[in-house]
Amino acid sequence: MNTAFRTHTCGALRTTHIGETVTLCGWVQGFRDLGYILFLDLRDRYGITQVSIKSDEQAAIYQQARQLGREFVVSVTGTVAERESKNPKLATGDIELIPTALEVLNAAKLPPFLIEDETDGKEDLRMEYRYLDIRRPRVARSLMMRAQVMRATRAYLDSQDFVEVETPFFIKSTPEGARDFLVPSRLQPGNFYALPQSPQILKQLLMVAGMDRYYQIVKCFRDEDFRGDRQPEFTQIDCEMSFVEQADVLNMFEGLTKHIFKKVLGVDLPDFIHLPYAEAMAKYGTDKPDLRFDCPIVELNPVMGGTDFGLFNSLLEKDGLIAGIVATGCAGYTRKQLDALTHFVKEPHRGGSGLVYVKYNEDGSVKSSVDKFYSQEHLLQIGEAAGAQPGDLLLIVADALKGKTRRILGDLRLHMARTEGWIAPDKWSVFWVVDFPLFEEDEETGELTFAHHPFCMPREQDLEYLYSDPQRVVAQSYDMVINGNEIVSGSIRVHRKEVQDKIFDILGLSEEEKEAKFGFMLRAFEYGAPPHGGCAFGLDRMVMLMAGEKSIRDVIAFPKTAGGRDLMMDAPASVPPEALGELGIKIKE
Ligand code: AMO
Repeated sequence: MNTAFRTHTCGALRTTHIGETVTLCGWVQGFRDLGYILFLDLRDRYGITQVSIKSDEQAAIYQQARQLGREFVVSVTGTVAERESKNPKLATGDIELIPTALEVLNAAKLPPFLIEDETDGKEDLRMEYRYLDIRRPRVARSLMMRAQVMRATRAYLDSQDFVEVETPFFIKSTPEGARDFLVPSRLQPGNFYALPQSPQILKQLLMVAGMDRYYQIVKCFRDEDFRGDRQPEFTQIDCEMSFVEQADVLNMFEGLTKHIFKKVLGVDLPDFIHLPYAEAMAKYGTDKPDLRFDCPIVELNPVMGGTDFGLFNSLLEKDGLIAGIVATGCAGYTRKQLDALTHFVKEPHRGGSGLVYVKYNEDGSVKSSVDKFYSQEHLLQIGEAAGAQPGDLLLIVADALKGKTRRILGDLRLHMARTEGWIAPDKWSVFWVVDFPLFEEDEETGELTFAHHPFCMPREQDLEYLYSDPQRVVAQSYDMVINGNEIVSGSIRVHRKEVQDKIFDILGLSEEEKEAKFGFMLRAFEYGAPPHGGCAFGLDRMVMLMAGEKSIRDVIAFPKTAGGRDLMMDAPASVPPEALGELGIKIKE
């Protein structure tokens, strides 16, 4: 760290340096002037060092220091001394600097918010002044952790003979299911490049090209609605391998994930389970369950009939689904708590019609919202089927659509875990979900669309269903789920032209569309495409979880707001009409 300006950083000095003359540079984090002494906290990305200035012994420096403001950039030369009252919370807390010279390198305006972990700045203000926000140790730490994750990734993949290859950003539309960001061409007015939603096609072409093992830490661009875990530009660790089966890919990237967790967090992850998609949906109501706690969904159809409860009887007749979850130790829930859960289930985006509860009290008595229809014995029988113990609360949801019952219970399961504190703070749940369907039905149009992307290879035993019952086809595709978040997605790819053609046919692509969208790829596949497969990690999401943050914005240096704006640069912005004219573009009034 020794440069023309400084000898050490603000995080470096320890008791071993006592007596040395050093120079530090940094920002004024704050100061306390007690009259006879002034304490100055000097901060840089490495830490904070206390400078201690006595008004009688260092009179000139004391006067200088009194003129400083927060965030002034200063250089302090002095002697390292042992502190009288040590600060165990600070890495440099055993020492302080007794200055012999202080130089202001630059003055600073008063920052619009407190540059401390517990800041008073609202998110919009922090984003507008993101360069000040990044000075906060917590944000700086996340960015440094991100760099560590990238370094560990490169080290691991390099050791496995992967080659890092860059692919272009100005390309043609890629099929990841979102909208493309378009870039108009000045040289060919009326034509547009699309920014890659991922390098999917290009990495497959690199396999045709014989690169064998590829990776790239790469920006992807998707014009989709924003949420806490989505950004319009985000980063993938994108990977592809030749001459592999699914198990090879899963093993390789389980290895990478374990390596990253060990290197960066010092955490030893246990071996990953492989959870079939159908089981994930049935037991947890989602393809990305949080398995840091169990609480599976239990199907109750066989034990709910034989009463006068018309609603449930008609659902049973219609082949609907009545199911529940057992909330351990929650039999004491009050009316108010139960009402809140009913409200949760009925929130418009969940659309539940109601919530039935059964309390299995510690004293052996049973109380439910359907006491009118179900005898005590019947409720005990239901409890037994559900695995409820005395003290537990059974929460039951029913709907004619099985998927909807499961989705609601999946949400309720998570909600209960969060409110009841079932998730231990330093627990990790990392595993693979496998055997995804190849196609799914578009909820709006009823048409078949691809579940992941159109290049996923069906399981060998399912190839025949491509011709008879496409919805039955299970793909060789997989996701890695970390603490209930989809972090990795991938598949074995179709490398045979006739299979790819058939999949495009099922997706309703005409010959012309096939040619226009994927002609170049299909042609490449006629020149010797090796069997291949791969996956992509959502780097932002993974770092968010590792850093213990709630939003991927917290681990991106200059993120967009929920509305897709860069508040600091004020983008997107209008451009002068001449610039549009050059591109052959006119804005409609
Ligand atoms: P997929 O579209 O599932 O697969 O993306 C892979 C991973 O990228 C992350 N991700 C995102 N992160 C932040 N903001 C977004 N808008 C966003 N969208 C996706 C997720 C996701 O799991 N080409 C395939 C991969 C493959 O088959 O090899 C692909 O892009 O963590």
